Amino acid sequence: MKILKFLSLLIFSGALFGSCSSKDKVEDEQIRIIPLPNYYQSQPGVFEMDKNTVIGVDLSDTNMVSLANYLNEKFMRTTGFGLSIKSASEGIVFTLVEENDLGEEGYRMSVTPDGTQIYANTYHGIFNGIQSFLQLLPLDSTGDIAKINCIDISDKPRFAWRGLMLDVSRHFFTKQEVKRFIDLMAEYKYNVFHWHLSDDQGWRVEIKSLPRLTDVGAWRAPRVGNWWEREPQSVTDSLTYGGFYTQDDIREVVEYARERFITVVPEIDVPGHSMALLTAYPEISCTGGPFHVNVGNTFYTKEENSLCVGKEKTFAILDMIFDELVDLFPSSYIHIGGDECYKGFWAKCPDCRARMSSKQLQNVEELQSYFVKRVASHIQSKGKHVIGWDEILEGGLAKDAIVMSWRGMKGGVEAARQGHRVIMTPFEHCYLDLYQGDPAVEPNTYSMLRLRDCYKFSIVPDSIDASFVLGGQGNLWAESIPHYRQVEYMTWPRAMAISETLWNETDSRNWDFFIQRVESQFRYLDRLNVNYARSIYDPIISPSINDGELRIELTTEISGLDIFYTFDNTNPDCYSNLYTTALSVPKNATMLKVVTYRGKCPIGKQINLTIEELKERAKKKE
Ligand code: ACM
Ligand code: ZN
Repeated sequence: MKILKFLSLLIFSGALFGSCSSKDKVEDEQIRIIPLPNYYQSQPGVFEMDKNTVIGVDLSDTNMVSLANYLNEKFMRTTGFGLSIKSASEGIVFTLVEENDLGEEGYRMSVTPDGTQIYANTYHGIFNGIQSFLQLLPLDSTGDIAKINCIDISDKPRFAWRGLMLDVSRHFFTKQEVKRFIDLMAEYKYNVFHWHLSDDQGWRVEIKSLPRLTDVGAWRAPRVGNWWEREPQSVTDSLTYGGFYTQDDIREVVEYARERFITVVPEIDVPGHSMALLTAYPEISCTGGPFHVNVGNTFYTKEENSLCVGKEKTFAILDMIFDELVDLFPSSYIHIGGDECYKGFWAKCPDCRARMSSKQLQNVEELQSYFVKRVASHIQSKGKHVIGWDEILEGGLAKDAIVMSWRGMKGGVEAARQGHRVIMTPFEHCYLDLYQGDPAVEPNTYSMLRLRDCYKFSIVPDSIDASFVLGGQGNLWAESIPHYRQVEYMTWPRAMAISETLWNETDSRNWDFFIQRVESQFRYLDRLNVNYARSIYDPIISPSINDGELRIELTTEISGLDIFYTFDNTNPDCYSNLYTTALSVPKNATMLKVVTYRGKCPIGKQINLTIEELKERAKKKE
């Protein structure tokens, strides 16, 4: 989402609490695992651990020892004490087995009073079991003992591709921040990190044979304020905002991800979204420029940001870029973008027109298809699979290209119909850059995508052969994400919902049970100082016009909250009007203020809206 602006099982503890301390959350938790395992059964008894408890692995197996170290580090962070790693068959024991049912990533876990056994066919399966085990740990342990309830789990993912995408072009995030992102992804059993490394606003990967890409393309004038409304760069600006990853940085991140069983898939977004590339190498544009790295000002259709498809040098430069990338990234997938390419300059360019005539291309869509096919076949010749956004369908799909469907599911459906593999990432369920609560209290962005909308993601439409669906992913575009804390805010908890929809087999999901587990995860994320969003606690204000009168409905995304409101300009509390039924506006009122409570505790953000704004919103809906 960039230029286009359209753009159970357990009892839910909904008790009302008497005070507002942080302990006033769900106390009665049995299981907080996200994504929910496909099979689990509580068993009698508890498994008690203290500093003498052992992680039992075969010490000659370095992969197992790494897994044990990983478990120990995270265990210590949650419980406050560490365990010893020994060659033993007691304590917490990892065992490789051969069980067809578990597949590549599945695991079986048995927690008994005598110990915990994790079985899997692969190290990745053991790693997934470790994540579930860690999520069984109590968050309130005393520091020298931790107890977990006994349980049997048998689990494996529904989809092989469970991804998150991070755009590091619109705003730059450091190598350490990217690692932090990947580390938390792994805890929720994601296995693909899609790294959006280039766009109009910055080129972020060192390409040794083309140094101008990062010398020039990685830097722009600093700006704040609403994206698309910023003042364009001027010659007097110092280009102090930006950054890039050296090839050593990339290798370090790839290795860090590999240790967490996450594949890093790089994206170089071409032929559109290429203003940073054109700033460095204007000779591969249609017009010759001049260009500058975009700062978040509008430009689409007015300024050129697409590579010229008529010039041979365009392909020579792209070959140099992708040749270095295929060596740098061990992933068997390379993403070449292909989205939102403005083709107006192609239609006027003599070189592009000559290409169209020599290749007998009927229109600019076929010219884009020529471009994608040519770039894809070069990358495929290096033994890699090519992925593109669903626009690569237009003008004809490249052989064997994988389609990432973002403008809804229809691109994915069509690609699968043509026998291509697809990754589903429809904006209406998967775009983490969108609003997750009322725009009055959220940072400026495009349309709405509440946690509940993510949780409704059902990724295989009836009309499709499921075997073509590799999986799905959440996408975080970074136009309005100026720093890493905001990355966390936009990602969590919505990425928990997406993870569960990609992992768990059932489409009949239990929302209240999910929220119970999300709230337990909040307690965990609090310990890590992760800036997750608490927007699920905010009131939802829905105005409409009824017989010419403004009518206002108030709801909440989760159950168990009370809504209080005022029309008299005072700040509401739990002694204000309790919402029970749709509101009409009292004469001369200018403002509605709304707040939510759980018991006696205010819990969501207070939302203040003028009556004028409410009328505007109601009219827009009509
Ligand atoms: C996209 O959101 N333009 C893929
Ligand atoms: Zn051209």
